[in-house]
Amino acid sequence: MSLSRTLARVPILARSYAQLPKPKEITVNGSTYATDGWTNISSSILPLTDRKLHLDANHPIGILRSLVEKRFSGLGYTFYNEFQPVVTTHENFDVLGFPKDHPGRSKSDTYYVNETHLLRTHTSAHELECFTQCPTPGYFISADVYRRDEIDRTHYPAFHQMEGARVWSRTEHGAGLESKLEADIQAIPKTDIIVEDPSYNAVTNPKQDFMTDREAELVGTHLKRTLELLVNEVFNEAKESARLAGSQEPYLNEPLKVRWVEAYFPWTAPSWEIEVWWKGEWLECCGCGVVREQVLTNSGLQDTIGWAFGVGLDRIAMILFGIPDIRLFWTLDERFKLQFSEGKITTFKPYSKYPGTTRDVSFWLPLAAPEAPLHENDLMEIVRNTAGDLVESVKLVDEFVHPKTGRVSQCYRVNYQSMDRSLTNEEINVYQEMVRSELAEAFQVELR
Ligand code: PHE
Repeated sequence: MSLSRTLARVPILARSYAQLPKPKEITVNGSTYATDGWTNISSSILPLTDRKLHLDANHPIGILRSLVEKRFSGLGYTFYNEFQPVVTTHENFDVLGFPKDHPGRSKSDTYYVNETHLLRTHTSAHELECFTQCPTPGYFISADVYRRDEIDRTHYPAFHQMEGARVWSRTEHGAGLESKLEADIQAIPKTDIIVEDPSYNAVTNPKQDFMTDREAELVGTHLKRTLELLVNEVFNEAKESARLAGSQEPYLNEPLKVRWVEAYFPWTAPSWEIEVWWKGEWLECCGCGVVREQVLTNSGLQDTIGWAFGVGLDRIAMILFGIPDIRLFWTLDERFKLQFSEGKITTFKPYSKYPGTTRDVSFWLPLAAPEAPLHENDLMEIVRNTAGDLVESVKLVDEFVHPKTGRVSQCYRVNYQSMDRSLTNEEINVYQEMVRSELAEAFQVELR
C-alpha cells in the first residue's frame, strides 16, 4: 500500500494533537465551556461522552444494568440513569472530602473541561444531588465515568459504574430506628452465598462518633447483605450463561464465595470492599461504606444515617458475557452488537482473531524537567489520540539510568491489534512514527 493511501486511513484527529492551538471553548453533551490551562479532554475522549452504552438495552453494559435494577425494583430504590458526565470539582471531590493533594485530582489522572469542571471520575459525584432529591429511602445511579489510565485489555479511559445508597432518618423513626433497621435487614431476599467477614476492626476501620455501635453495626449489615444479593444475582447469571455456552469448568459447580476486606474512602467510615472468588482468584468488585455525617448534612439530611457503594460494571460485564477485551464495548461493528439482546446473558463468540504487531518506542527523558514532565498517562493519551482503538496495550518494558550522565531511558512496547480487521505494516509504521514525533515535540524527549 502506498504511503498516501495509508495516511488517508489515519483519522484527522490524529494530526499532532498536542500541537494544535487549544480552542477557546469546548462543547460536551451540548453544553459549552470556556477552556483554560486545566483543559485536557482529548479528541478521542469527547465522542465517548455521547455514547451512553448503559442506556442501550441491547448492549452488555445496558443488559447488566437492567439485570441489577430488576433484582432491586420494589425494594425502595429510585433508579437514576440520565446524569450527564460533566460535573464540578466540588461535586466530584470537595463535597466528598477528598484532600486538596489527593492524586485523583491531578491532571494526569482526570479529564478536566476547565479548572472548575471535569468528566466525573466516579458516580459518587452525584451523591450530593441524589441525597438531596431522592424520594425513596435508597437510589441507584448508573453512568459512564472517565479516568486517564494505562492501556490494556481491562482498562479503558471510559467505563461504567453503578452506585447505590440507602438512608434512614432518626427523626422519622425515633426510638424505633433500630427495629426498623432490623426489619429492613430481614426483608432483604436471602442468598446461599458463602461469606468470609473477619470481624470489624474498630481501630483500623472505625465507626463515626455520631452513630451508636448498634446503629453502625446494623447499617453495615444492611449494606453487606444488599451487596451480597447483587453479587449473587450477577455471578450466578454468569455461571448460567457459561453453562448454556457448553462450559463444564469445575468452578461452575462450586458455591459462590465472597469476602469483605477493609478499605478507605474519604466520604465513608467504616469502609469496605467486597471481593468475589472467581476462577481461582479474588476479584475486587466494589467499594462501599457507611456515609460520613458531613456528606449527609451537606445534602440537607439532618440526623440521618446510611450507606453507599460503587460497583464497576465493565469488568463484571466482561465476565458475564465472556468478552475478552474492554475495547469491544465501544466498537460499532455489527458483528459485536448483533450478538446481544435485551434481558439475555449470552456468551460472546469472537468473530475472528486478528494478529497483533508490536513496536517499541525508546527515548531519553530530558535531564532538566521540562514544563510538563512526561507522565505515563500522557504517553497513553498520545498513543490513543494517534491510533485510537487499534492499540491493544502499551507497556513499559525497560527503564534504566545512564551511569555517567544520570539520564533516564525508557522503552514502551505498543501492541497494535484491531478487533475487526488486519492491519498492514505500513499503516502501523505511520502510527508509530506519529507517536514518536508527537512524544518528541510535546515532551522534549530524545528518541533513540
Ligand atoms: N466511588 C468509589 C470508587 O470509584 C466507590 C464507592 C462508592 C465507595 C460509594 C464508597 C461509597 O472507587
